[in-house]
Amino acid sequence: MPTYILGIESSCDDTSASVLCDGKVLSNLVANQEVHKSYGGVVPELASRAHQQNIIPVVKQAISKANINKNQLNAIAYTRGPGLLGSLLVGSSFSKSLSIGLDIPLIEVNHMQAHLLAHFIDDCGPKPSFPFIGVTISGGHTQIVVVKDYFEIELIGETLDDAIGETFDKCGKMMGLTYPAGAIINEYSNLGDSLKYKFTKPKVGGLNYSFSGLKTAFLRFIEKESKINKDFVQKEINNLCASLQYTIVEILYEKVILSLKQTDISSVVFGGGVSCNSGIITKFKENESLEDYVSYFPKFEYTTDNAAMIAMVGYLKYNNKDFSSIEKGAKARYLY
Ligand code: KG4
Ligand code: ZN
Repeated sequence: MPTYILGIESSCDDTSASVLCDGKVLSNLVANQEVHKSYGGVVPELASRAHQQNIIPVVKQAISKANINKNQLNAIAYTRGPGLLGSLLVGSSFSKSLSIGLDIPLIEVNHMQAHLLAHFIDDCGPKPSFPFIGVTISGGHTQIVVVKDYFEIELIGETLDDAIGETFDKCGKMMGLTYPAGAIINEYSNLGDSLKYKFTKPKVGGLNYSFSGLKTAFLRFIEKESKINKDFVQKEINNLCASLQYTIVEILYEKVILSLKQTDISSVVFGGGVSCNSGIITKFKENESLEDYVSYFPKFEYTTDNAAMIAMVGYLKYNNKDFSSIEKGAKARYLY
């Protein structure tokens, strides 16, 4: 008998639903929220309201695109956290109600774990073997973890302040780019000189990161140059983006390589919205033989927030009969 899992993701500003059959994606729908663009960042209250509007149509479409009947579903997997509480509440309440209505198990999923385990989705690409170093890089997180098995994950490093995606987004805002700016900076970087402007890298101990100093230095620099030439940012946008991205990639790279050496692990697996950045992919791919590791990047549609990764973890947990109780609440902060 095939196992059908419905995944529901609503941790930030994307409402997503997906149906997987035995780990294969039958549908994966994402409703993005345009409303945040004009605010330069996600407005939590508006995100919750938009999830409320989107969740029923997105789930309906995911089930219909999968060409199944809702009564064929074996379980519902939902994002319990981490994320924005109001956003999580919409997805978790909906999932709980549907699981009661259909009388099928409910499975809670950790969003960050799902970003990494997305690699086990049938069509995500080559599958890493355990143990591996997991690097989650998104708008809200920058973490290095040791993944010994699907559900044996240990945090060994993280950002002490801003997340890597947040750094892209905030620096983008300083340059007048729309939110989220990561992909735009990536695009402009391909046209610029990455060594034109130098920004100092932070000195942080161990495997932790810090990006707030870079963000401030970037702001000071463009403020100073704009006083001399008011069109500085506009004229230099490609070089600014390329130099900023280059610095961010260097900061990320150094600690990841250190983590591989310290743990004696030779595979590194990326997850999260920033893992589609071409500067990051090129840097890690180019240095594989030099530093003796293999790097894994997810297929584009599984990098940003999506419910297929939630359903994938749901499928793995379903096989372990690891079900959740409806008493459990959404968790804004949720470690592995
Ligand atoms: O994982 P995600 O969809 O949502 C969170 O959980 O945060 O990640 C969104 C983040 C945003 O900060 C966005 O600017 C960034 O991913 N991003 C990128 C690129 N595409 C998306 N950052 C750098 N380069 C990209 N190509
Ligand atoms: Zn995410």
